Amino acid sequence: MAPAERRWRSALAATTTLPDQVTTSSPAETEAAGETLGKRLRVGDVVLLTGELGAGKTTFVRGVTRGAGSSAPVASPTFQLVRVYPGHVQLAHVDLYRIENVSELADLGLEELAGEGAVVVEWGDRLQVPGSALIEIEHLGGDRRLIRTNRDLSH
Ligand SMILES: Nc1ncnc2c1ncn2[C@@H]1O[C@H](COP(=O)(O)OP(=O)(O)OP(=O)(O)O)[C@@H](O)[C@H]1O
Ligand SMILES: [Mg+2]
Repeated sequence: MAPAERRWRSALAATTTLPDQVTTSSPAETEAAGETLGKRLRVGDVVLLTGELGAGKTTFVRGVTRGAGSSAPVASPTFQLVRVYPGHVQLAHVDLYRIENVSELADLGLEELAGEGAVVVEWGDRLQVPGSALIEIEHLGGDRRLIRTNRDLSH
């Protein structure tokens, strides 16, 4: 493993309380799933989120942030790539939607953020992070969403 990768803890432990897949029927239920994860996050955990526009990624992060111990309101980091929330573990909320090139990714300081706390990344399938967990949110129509957890990212 390259030295740069060593700061990343496998997010495996944090995701064990999430079922492989769960269907939610409201934003509150998606937040609750996120909160369960947030409670378990530790320094170095990196969670990648994927799902189409409006799938519920930010809604999920709202719960993760609460679970991580922050009562701050969570908005989409539309014009900022990263927002950092202090809690029992610091949580960095990253949104890669507007990222245009690889050099911006390098500027993110992901390693430093993972050194200080946990990191949750919207449009995270644009990144390859060894040991991370990938959570996919799928729009099932109406208010229903399917949340799938993939804990076995070996890339
Ligand atoms: N079961 C559900 N889970 C999550 N969000 C839901 C659910 N039902 C309805 N919604 C609504 O869907 C929208 C999801 O928006 P949200 O900003 O969380 O999505 P997103 O994936 O972050 O979008 P973007 O790609 O623009 O960042 C919100 O308006 C939310 O209230
Ligand atoms: Mg979002």
